[in-house]
Amino acid sequence: MFQTPFLNRRQFLASGAALAASTKIGAANTPAPVNPPIKLSAGTGQAALRPAPFGLTPVWQYNGSVPGAEIRIRQGERLRIEAHNNLPEDTTIHWHGIRTPNAMDGVPELTQNAIRAGETFLYEFDVLDAGTFWYHPHHNSSQQVGRGLYGPLIVEEHDPVKVDRDITWMLDDWRLTEEGDIAGGFGSMHDAVHGGRMGNTVTINGKMPDRMAVKSGERIRLRLINAANARIFGLDFGALSPVVIALDGQPVTPHAPDSGVVVIGPAMRVDLIIDLTGKPGEVMPVKDIYYNRMEYTLVDLVHEATPLRAAVPDWPMELPPNPLSEPDLKAATRHEIIFNGGMMGQGMMGGGMMSMMNQMRQGNMWFINGVAATGPVKEPFLTLTQGTTHILNMENRTSWPHPIHFHGHSFRVIARNGQPTRFQEWQDTVMMAPEEKVDIAFVADNPGEWMFHCHILEHQAAGMMGVIRVTTQA
Ligand code: C2O
Ligand code: CU
Repeated sequence: MFQTPFLNRRQFLASGAALAASTKIGAANTPAPVNPPIKLSAGTGQAALRPAPFGLTPVWQYNGSVPGAEIRIRQGERLRIEAHNNLPEDTTIHWHGIRTPNAMDGVPELTQNAIRAGETFLYEFDVLDAGTFWYHPHHNSSQQVGRGLYGPLIVEEHDPVKVDRDITWMLDDWRLTEEGDIAGGFGSMHDAVHGGRMGNTVTINGKMPDRMAVKSGERIRLRLINAANARIFGLDFGALSPVVIALDGQPVTPHAPDSGVVVIGPAMRVDLIIDLTGKPGEVMPVKDIYYNRMEYTLVDLVHEATPLRAAVPDWPMELPPNPLSEPDLKAATRHEIIFNGGMMGQGMMGGGMMSMMNQMRQGNMWFINGVAATGPVKEPFLTLTQGTTHILNMENRTSWPHPIHFHGHSFRVIARNGQPTRFQEWQDTVMMAPEEKVDIAFVADNPGEWMFHCHILEHQAAGMMGVIRVTTQA
């Protein structure tokens, strides 16, 4: 179950062009093979989000499915995607977490012109990092992602960790009417000043899950991707003890999640190793316990009658590191980034300053260093020189959590509330709890104009975004 359509190298290899190219082995000085592009077409359609006897839901989707095709490519290969727009409005595709050249980042009016209805755009870049990534539009994102436009992008290691099964769970929640239509109200002010557009129907890979068959003794690599506009998941695997091996695609020291709960904010990814320790026939629920008094069973893991092996394997779990530039903390330049806005206790807005109050009247509800950016942003709030290290001392002066995403780079999360983090983990999207201070460090090694925004898509639309410019050395 939970299979998504699958486009991968094997399909390229089945095509004549790729077969011709594959003769490169041993042939020196021939140009690198160019795979034919994968076609991704954004359009309207229908999806069976709910089980029978419920009907289909009209959605927006890539290649006629939700999620869109799982793209699989090997680290170091060149990805070519021919994006076609069959929607009634503009779109783009952003490769979330992938360190692309700026022109391939998919941000309309910043890195490319929007792809107009009926038009095509070729995305093409070398994939530097292995890991779990995803793709989604970066235009009218609350609505386009909220209606189903997203898909997984898996970059395989040359030497992956050994597992029995490698499974992707793309999590989403939908706000459905009783008829099973996607509720309107995208852009609602209420969603914008609170926690964003929360749904009422949670899906894994576009289906309301029920059960998944597993085998006693089996080892699974589970790639979790949160494609929800606003919902944060806190997955509790009960007696199973999942081990976190990667965050946002980047390897991390294998470790048990804090208090055993895997927390995953919008746009974030977590790779887990799960050893199935249940007895044949045993049912083990996976629960989402993130929100108080809103716990529910996401899916039941059902052990089949025949075990795979008597005991769980003890194969190594550590992933090889990706080629990221190591920040030079001693030489780093520090920048203060303050987040304000949104609804506080007693119905007060958290802007603080008079100018913010004026902006809020125009629908600008969230601020980065006092500025709410709505519509296409072009002017950077930070300009960094290529090759230099920077520490962003971020402070969440709001009553809401925010998953903060930076394009074109991964950063180390070096401290929370002044305390060094245990794993100095690499992320591209970092959760900030209400009132929390989070310090991140990175080398500005990718020149261009890069979005920096909250990935609660309604917060982003109501101002919580900005641009960081990385200039090439003079
Ligand atoms: Cu996942 Cu700016 O995006
Ligand atoms: Cu936010």
